[in-house]
Amino acid sequence: MDQLRVVGGARLEGRLEAAGSKNAVLPLMAACLLTDEPLVLTHVPRLRDVETMGRILSCLGVEVAQEGDRLTLQAQSDGSVKAPYDLVSTMRASVCVLGPLIARRGAAQVSMPGGCVFGVRPVDLHVKGLNALGAEIRIEGGYLASEVGRRLQGAALFLGSRAGSSVLATAQVLSAAVLAEGRTEIENAAMEPEITELCRCLLSMGARISGLGGHRLVVDGVKTLHGAEHRVGGDRVEAGTFLTAAAMTAGDVTVEGVEPESLTAALEMLVAMGAEITQGPNWVRCRAHGRLGAADLTTLPFPGFPTDLQAQFMAALTVSEGISVVTERIFPDRFMHVAELLRLGARISKEGAQAIVHGAPSLSGAIVMASDLRASAALVLAGLVAEGETEVRRVYHIDRGYERIDERFASLGAEIHRETQPDLEQTASVC
Ligand code: UD1
Repeated sequence: MDQLRVVGGARLEGRLEAAGSKNAVLPLMAACLLTDEPLVLTHVPRLRDVETMGRILSCLGVEVAQEGDRLTLQAQSDGSVKAPYDLVSTMRASVCVLGPLIARRGAAQVSMPGGCVFGVRPVDLHVKGLNALGAEIRIEGGYLASEVGRRLQGAALFLGSRAGSSVLATAQVLSAAVLAEGRTEIENAAMEPEITELCRCLLSMGARISGLGGHRLVVDGVKTLHGAEHRVGGDRVEAGTFLTAAAMTAGDVTVEGVEPESLTAALEMLVAMGAEITQGPNWVRCRAHGRLGAADLTTLPFPGFPTDLQAQFMAALTVSEGISVVTERIFPDRFMHVAELLRLGARISKEGAQAIVHGAPSLSGAIVMASDLRASAALVLAGLVAEGETEVRRVYHIDRGYERIDERFASLGAEIHRETQPDLEQTASVC
């Protein structure tokens, strides 16, 4: 099992290009099921989650061909409709195949994705939305199953979760409504840039959607969609991670290939903490001089502060001057990184869905355990400023969503190495 060894203290400096967005590419891949013509995606990141989605699509009779960052997906109209537990349970976004399968093949059997380390993560809104279109979804043996055998029907529906909107439920309903008969109106649709990107790709496949970027999406169903080519946009979470690292290390980093408007809330936080941000149409530069200051943050649906950057910003606040309050409104249990940050000497107390961070003058390197994708990134960031060496174990979490994170941080001057963790049984025998 790989681990990352980070030696703290280096100042990050330089430029890099954002990789293709993980959260955008997964529902885009699922959209290939809506046509039997090829869907070509370019600027596809090399990630474990992309591989997993490719394997699920293969099970569903999709020909998957990858050449560099170009992915060609060609579905047959009559392939299998079963997405098995062993694959779906490793990645929640795989539930995105449900809507396209029902819309195009009239049936689906998709394993329930299950919970994850930061909570229960229900799929009730996915079910509610598809049922509104006439999908009649049942839960059977842990699978979401449907055999409608006829075209879905457009409907007006409200997709509201306790936290506001839902990103993947919006993607799910959208990707079914495009082939439904008549008009679908999705109220309280998620406004995340990844949804707008999905709309753009569906439009280029022949779908009819209006209201892009807003809370109300209107879809006029068409009978068939055709193939298309789509370039995956830059990953705003990855970009935000590198920019935060620049601020923490009093560095100077420019990330290209990302729209600054997709990161407004995070950039404002960096400014509030004392960093200097400059930006152009497709790039952001973050510079900082000296220690950052404290700031309070609350995660919210887009355009609010993204929950996917909460852990990374908390890492920055652990070494900022003053006291900060971090409130998690999307996933109230998403604080797995707190215990590991404490091992590095951070001073954090947790109260329900809030963490109070007392900024410490420094952290001290230690062995820490990655628990989920973004939490692992936070541990790497903390390692970059901790005194001495930090070993981040179980980095397979990070490889799910960050492309070659070690090489990319190293290109900015970080001292970071990937190692294969010694076999624990052998280690035990010498203890
Ligand atoms: C997506 C992102 C994830 C991000 C999250 C919130 C992908 C692949 N993943 O996940 O990285 O952290 O958005 O920005 O794009 N909810 C329900 N019922 C549902 C669905 C969701 O109650 O059926 C709740 C969730 O528990 C949560 C809130 O809605 O409290 C928002 O979650 P949601 O936007 O659905 O997250 P995902 O789309 O799963």
